[in-house]
This record gives sequence, C-alpha cells and structure tokens, in this order.
Amino acid sequence: MDFVDELRDRATGTERTLSGALYSHPDHFQDEAERLLSREWLCLGRADEIPNVGDYFTVQAMHEPLLVTRANDGDVHVLANICRHRGSPVASGSGNAKKFVCPYHAWSYGLDGALRATPRMPKKRAQDLCGLPRHRSEIWAGFVYVNLDGEAAPMAPRLMGLSDILQNYRTEEMRCVHSAEEVWATNWKCLVENFMEASHL
Ligand code: FES
Repeated sequence: MDFVDELRDRATGTERTLSGALYSHPDHFQDEAERLLSREWLCLGRADEIPNVGDYFTVQAMHEPLLVTRANDGDVHVLANICRHRGSPVASGSGNAKKFVCPYHAWSYGLDGALRATPRMPKKRAQDLCGLPRHRSEIWAGFVYVNLDGEAAPMAPRLMGLSDILQNYRTEEMRCVHSAEEVWATNWKCLVENFMEASHL
C-alpha cells in the first residue's frame, strides 16, 4: 500500500497515523530500502570529525560498509570500505592514516581510494580498475551525506528553506565534542517520528 493512501482517511479527508504493519513487516522495510533509503541522501556524520588530511571514520549505511576520509586534496571522500581483491574491509573504527592496507593480502589504497600496491600480484593488472569506489556525497551545514545510488537530485537546493531557519545557529562552525552509539530494535520511522515530536526537544 502506498504511504499517501495510508496517511489519508479517504472518507473524511483527514490525516491519520500509519498502520502497525508499515513499521513491522519485513516486506515494507525492503520496499522502503529499495525505493527510498537507497535512493535518497543519508547522513553519515560531521565533517569536523575528520578535520585533517588522513583523518577517517568507518560507518555502515544500509548494507554498505563505508570509509569516510579527508583526502590529500582536502575534500571529504566517501568510499566503499570493501577491498577490491576479496572483499575484506580495509579499515575499521576511526583514526588518521597515510594509506589503508587491507589486512587480508595487503593491497593498499590511498586516502582517495586509489589502489597503491598489490603485493605478490602485478600491479598493472589491477591498479586502474581496482580502486575503492567513491560514493556521491555532499556536505551540508557541516554534516556529511551520501547518496548510495548516485541518482538523487542535489541536496543543498532542496534544503534552502531549512538553511534559512538554521542560519543563526551556524551549524557548519560547530565542533563535535561527544558522540554515542545506540542500536534501537525498531523501525527507522519510529526514530524519525520521535525526533520530530516537539515534547522531546
Ligand atoms: S582481500 Fe584485500 S588484499 Fe586480498
């Protein structure tokens, strides 16, 4: 069922809450993952968490392990955290590195994902094709966003109205001083709705 149908009471034309199945049925989540979450912008963290060249953190978005780096060009790069040889993650946690060396057979990659070395294998065969793929990303108000399918409309123009509301808070100048990780055993919409509720703010 379409969300719009769910949200509207056809008889009265008024709005109502979603039915329970839309929060709990795996088919609905699969549908959301394919049609919405994989196609839209997802927030990964703050750009100020990786202020210096070589800083990085790892994160997972949907089923994609990602490596977020500050590369030599000063840009934030969002890379696939999957070695192109046999699929091992090339980094974990966060820190600062000059390059990323895969723990499995020691292929190494630059901060921009370019393949640097392939011990015991002719590098020429692999180097051009086997860099870590770079995902499309944007930084908005200091937050790092990724678009996994690469097809979403640019995000900043779509948030113009929000930029006006937030401008006095200068979020792009803020610095992260504390972070905590929580795993909620719930559907993602419950989180969104909780943080939209004014009594929680
Ligand atoms: S899996 Fe990374 S070098 Fe083999």
